[in-house]
Amino acid sequence: MQQYKGWEEFHNKPVEEKLPLFRQGGNIFDVIYAQQFKRTELEELFQIADRIRAISKTRTGTRFLSSLLDDKRAMLFFVQPSTRTFLSFQNACHLLGMKTSEIRDASTSSEVKGESPEDMIRTFSSYVDLIIIRHFNEGFAERAAWTLNVHASRAISVINGGSGKDQHPTQALLDIYTLERSFRDIGGLNGKKIAMVGDLKRGRTVRSLCQLLSLYEGVEFFFVAPEEFAMRGDILDALKARGNKFTLTDNFKEIMPQVDAIYSTRLQDEYDEKRESSAINYSQFIFKEEYLDLLGKNAVILHPFPRRNEIEVGVDKDPRALYWKQARNGMWLRMALILKLFGREHEVHNFA
Ligand code: CP
Repeated sequence: MQQYKGWEEFHNKPVEEKLPLFRQGGNIFDVIYAQQFKRTELEELFQIADRIRAISKTRTGTRFLSSLLDDKRAMLFFVQPSTRTFLSFQNACHLLGMKTSEIRDASTSSEVKGESPEDMIRTFSSYVDLIIIRHFNEGFAERAAWTLNVHASRAISVINGGSGKDQHPTQALLDIYTLERSFRDIGGLNGKKIAMVGDLKRGRTVRSLCQLLSLYEGVEFFFVAPEEFAMRGDILDALKARGNKFTLTDNFKEIMPQVDAIYSTRLQDEYDEKRESSAINYSQFIFKEEYLDLLGKNAVILHPFPRRNEIEVGVDKDPRALYWKQARNGMWLRMALILKLFGREHEVHNFA
């Protein structure tokens, strides 16, 4: 296999040093890490997403949206399983008029004939204007963006749609959009108390969401997890450096009345090395219908899904259960992000 020199050296740098490669002209060009986003950029995405959802309510508006990027094509390279991220990105592209291609099974690509990841990504870039990647390996989306920025004549944007146990930046964007909409009329996100529950060690959604929430003043975290799957030190260090308070606990019930949001997650047992998940008693991390009485009236419950038994189905009918809205918000927010990457966001603001 042909080697592309420089990737290992780039990959081993601290994240902060790598981020400039993913910007062009001062704007985000590739979406690889949650740390790339400034608070002003989040707020701009929320405004674009709000505009898109309002415009989409009429047939005229839907037609207008589908004209915005009808000159663009996207590749969905999703070789790790996905339902929501794949479908919301695919529908986001289609609602903006983009055509999409997809590979969802690595065994159907020429990787199996020995093609290098770099050659494969450069091949995608010959046909499309945007590449969206879901991959089992932590650095894969970063490697794709590095390849196109450093080696390809045609640099096109790469979006990380979930990379191993590390990052899921666009999930974090839709999560924080959902939280921001919930708290918009009750003081906003500043100072809110957020419980993150479950397998926090291997849960990429919570890791990315912590990075975004720490952009808001005084957000306090409660990390509720079995000891074996506690939040990792890199995130705790980042929160300490930014002055965010946090508590590590396995007592879920005790913190329920104290928090403004519960963000529940499942065991990430696809990353087990020796079936270690099977030794965990997850029952104390389940949100039962009877616990609804413990929550504040403005508190909300989120879950990135897929769900197993972390939240009882009986909870779904409570207006504080936001996970179905959260999944739909993924489509609006991802439309906003794609529009912004192509620099076409002003058109939704100008639509009468
Ligand atoms: N939340 C999320 O990433 O879901 P999928 O794995 O179904 O895409």
